[in-house]
Amino acid sequence: MTQDNHNEIDLSLMDEIFTQYRHQAGALIPVLQKAQETYGYLPPDVLQLIARQLKIPLSKVYGVATFYAQFYLERRGRHILRLCDGTACHVKGTPILLTSLEDHFHLQPGETSEDNELTVEIVYCLGSCALAPVAVFDGKVMGRMKQNVLLNTIKKKTDIN
Ligand code: FES
Repeated sequence: MTQDNHNEIDLSLMDEIFTQYRHQAGALIPVLQKAQETYGYLPPDVLQLIARQLKIPLSKVYGVATFYAQFYLERRGRHILRLCDGTACHVKGTPILLTSLEDHFHLQPGETSEDNELTVEIVYCLGSCALAPVAVFDGKVMGRMKQNVLLNTIKKKTDIN
């Protein structure tokens, strides 16, 4: 369940970043990187502030933030679960894994739990089809994933309710 809590964002955290890059041409990407390190993602208010401070059109700031895969415009959880739903993984059971995530944690692909513990993302082929279905939890690849292993991993590694 994605929750937009950008009202709680402390924009003053950007002050130091703007000071650091004040006189630097081409600062947009490093400023976006620092902002994402600070907030975990790039909230709309932060993008607007960056546009104002760097005197760059907001459309250009959005254009860059959406072009690069390293930037996230949605809040993300402390833990990231990626499930592969490419053909091999789909056939071998990813839909069952997705159903159990929904049943146990009320999470669908692209969503972050309300407590901000877990984000679920779908990817399409990780190049490890022989290990289908493949999950990647916080960067660790886990092949031949089963429902109970997935649920136990999430319960053990996160504080999700
Ligand atoms: S389809 Fe999932 S790893 Fe290739």
